[in-house]
Parts: sequence; structure tokens; C-alpha cells
Amino acid sequence: MAKELNFTCSACGTSFGKWSGQCDACKEWNTITQSTALASGPKGKSLGAMRGKTIPLTDLDTQEKEPPRTYSGVGELDRVLGGGLVKASALLVGGDPGIGKSTLLLQAAARFARNGLKVIYISGEESNAQVQMRARRLGLEKSPVMLASETNLRDILTTLEAEKPDLAIIDSIQTMWADNVDSAPGSVSQVRSSAHELTSFAKRNGMAVVMVGHVTKDGSIAGPRVVEHMVDTVLYFQGERGHQYRILRAVKNRFGPADEIGVFEMTGKGLVEVKNPSALFLSERGKPAPGSVVFCGIEGSRPMLCEIQALVAPSPHSQPRRSVVGWDSGRLAMILAVLESRCGVPFTGLDVYLNVAGGLRISEPAADLAVAAALVSAREDAALPAEAVIFGEISLSGALRPVVQTENRLKEAQKLGFTTAIVPQQAKQPAVAGLQMRHADDLAGFVEDVFGAR
Ligand SMILES: Nc1ncnc2c1ncn2[C@@H]1O[C@H](COP(=O)(O)OP(=O)(O)O)[C@@H](O)[C@H]1O
Ligand SMILES: [Mg+2]
Ligand SMILES: [Zn+2]
Repeated sequence: MAKELNFTCSACGTSFGKWSGQCDACKEWNTITQSTALASGPKGKSLGAMRGKTIPLTDLDTQEKEPPRTYSGVGELDRVLGGGLVKASALLVGGDPGIGKSTLLLQAAARFARNGLKVIYISGEESNAQVQMRARRLGLEKSPVMLASETNLRDILTTLEAEKPDLAIIDSIQTMWADNVDSAPGSVSQVRSSAHELTSFAKRNGMAVVMVGHVTKDGSIAGPRVVEHMVDTVLYFQGERGHQYRILRAVKNRFGPADEIGVFEMTGKGLVEVKNPSALFLSERGKPAPGSVVFCGIEGSRPMLCEIQALVAPSPHSQPRRSVVGWDSGRLAMILAVLESRCGVPFTGLDVYLNVAGGLRISEPAADLAVAAALVSAREDAALPAEAVIFGEISLSGALRPVVQTENRLKEAQKLGFTTAIVPQQAKQPAVAGLQMRHADDLAGFVEDVFGAR
């Protein structure tokens, strides 16, 4: 008999045959707990022994109709959804506690209700009075959203069946309690089966369901990753503590491009969409300082400017620090190695700190050259020209490679008042009026061009 996998990680949902302190899959500590089995069908009969019903089969050619969509009217939200909310779909909105998920969804609920959808908002965390208080603060108390404070999933499904809403918001999935599952709310089995029930209910009844999932650090409550595979769309709401910006990021979308982001600002009156994120991400930039470089990235379908900051200081430690926020630490190590071995710019004995300003997270290799520029600028204590934007990929040989959507990036830079672009040499270099181009073939040439002969 196969060994039963009844230990489950509450952070990523991976199952194991035995308990261990660290999850092999996601490397989180203390997240593995023993789980009880999911609710099951008739006991004791194998699937082969008891007949199910035949399912209708189709061919590959017959076209399903495009699913109907409803727009919220909030551009930043609609774009992340891949162009509006899809009927009969399941969404997960994950994020840290307090980041603004309930605020976002109450505002979205009001928008969708105004655009003709029947919307029910179910809070398992807050009383009706608390949600109503938030609605008043956001100026939404008159919007036709129906509200209930409930955690019993059976009662919720019965209500949804009777009311037939177009959209149900469940805040949060960790507070739901399915009475047929023998474990506490928030446990992996409860969260999984609640999400499963809600998702299949939504598909059967042509309803859209949005589930809120708190990102948890503590193993006693299951995180949203446990249900990611069940839903059509996974959005994460992110932001830095102490910053007003919030980024809604699609990490999975069956109905649109993943990696699309929407940018919002948290204000006393709720979330306000940021139509020009580049301006926002650059707004805190002061006078040109050593270690500061402006990079133009592509987020989803949009170019977006942001500031990359580096600080380099003599290290008191035998093992110097390498600290990165908003970028990949492996990639930083690679760039430090290329700078050292191909350009003669060593970082031995130096602590290196790298930060992407504004809480943005960059994953493109296109940022390589901007990172290298920030590092050398910090090390040499020499500021870069204030009106220059830099991007390009660096290979291990020290060669520079052009990146995708160069023209879009250049246009965005020009639009925001930049006058110079330093980018890799490319056969057919796009030209943008008003933007002076400086090219480099390799990293050593770039360092010499920008910081002088070494
Ligand atoms: N009275 C208020 N004025 C301004 N901002 C507030 C107020 N109350 C709450 N907020 C903001 O809303 C955030 C909480 O948002 P909420 O939607 O409840 O988060 P979540 O549902 O993700 O836990 C707070 O961190 C704060 O930034
Ligand atoms: Mg909340
Ligand atoms: Zn895990």
C-alpha cells in the first residue's frame, strides 16, 4: 500500500509522509502539520466498482464562446484581471494582513454593483458594523452591495443559492468553516475544502467568487498558496510598510496575461488608482547621488521607471554582507563577479546593499546594467548623470545584450523628461526623438565610458 501523505505544509500545500521541521518544497520552517483527510464520497467502494455518470465529450475545434466580462471601471484593477471580471470564475486575492485587501474588495464590490452586478460581500472576520464603518469612510455606504458577517460555509452556500448573486466576496477563506470537515477553521483541510466548495459552486451557478487569503508566517493557519491551483486567477496585493503604494499583481490568470500589475495609493478615503506609476516611483528621488540609477522595466504590458539604489561600505565582517531588497540575490552575486573579473572592479571586503525604491520587485535581467551602474557608482562615490536611464542584460562574459521592448522603455523615459539612455549596442537601434543614445558593447566599455578610464 502506498504510504499516506498526511502531513501537509500550511504555506505551500505540499504533502509529506512524515513530519519534519522544514518544508522541502518551500523551505518554510514549522509549517508542517498532520492533516485529516478531505471530505470524501461513499466510503469503502473503489471508484471502479461504483459507476459515475458519463461526461459529455467534445472536439478540439468547437469554439467555446468568450466568457462574458464585467468591467469595474477602475483601470488598474480591470487590467490586472485581464480585462474585467469573468462570469463563473474563481479568484484568490492574497496579501499580508493589514495591507488593504478588504478595502480593495469593498471598493471593487461597490464598482461592480454600480455596473449592474448583484454583489454579496461576506465577512468572516469583521462584524457588519465594522464593514459598514469602512464603507462610510470610503463613501460607499449607499452602494447596493449586500453584506453578511458569517463563517458557516453551509449557510453561506445556501444563501448564495437562494440569492443568486453575480459576484460573491469571501473575506477571508481562512475564517470559513465547512462542518463536514473535521478540523479547525484555518487548517489546511478546512481552507482547501472551503475553497473547493466555493469554486465548484461558482462554476455550477455562473457566479464569480473572490476569496481573500491572508499570507501567514505561522504554520497553524494555512496560507493562500494552498488554494492557488484551484482558482482561475491569483492576485497578490503587496506593499511596503510605511509606504502608501500598493501593487496588485496577477501571478496566475486563466483569462489574461499573468505578471500584469496595477498600482494604487492607500489614502484615508481608500485606494486610489495611480495612472502614472513611473512618476510615483521616481517622486521621492532627490538630487543625483552616488549609487542611484534610474531603470526602465516592463511590468506586464507597461513600461515603468524606477530607481535602483546601491550602497557600498567597508565591511567590519570577515564575510561581507550582500543584502538585496526587490531583486534577486543570486543575480547580484553574478553581477559582482562579472564586475570583478571582467572590469577589474572588485568588491572584496565591502558590504553591498541593493534596493529597488518604492517597494517594487524586479525580476527582469534587463535590470542588470542598471544594477551594475548603481554598484560602480556607489563604490566610486560618483553620481551618474541625473537625466539618464539605463537598462540592458549582462552575460557572464561581460557582454551586453539588448532587451525586449527597448522602444517602449525609451518612450516612457522620454515622456518622463529623461534626455539620455545608456543601453546595449543593437543592430537596429530604435530612435526616440529628444532622447540621446549612448551605447556600450560590453560592461568594461560601459564602466570606462561612464566612470572614466581605470
Ligand atoms: N481611518 C483610516 N484612515 C486611513 N487609513 C486607514 C484607516 N483605517 C484603515 N486604514 C488603512 O487600511 C489598512 C487596512 O486595510 P484592510 O483593507 O483592513 O486590510 P486587510 O483586509 O488586507 O487586512 C490599514 O493598514 C490602513 O493603511
Ligand atoms: Mg481584511
Ligand atoms: Zn511548503
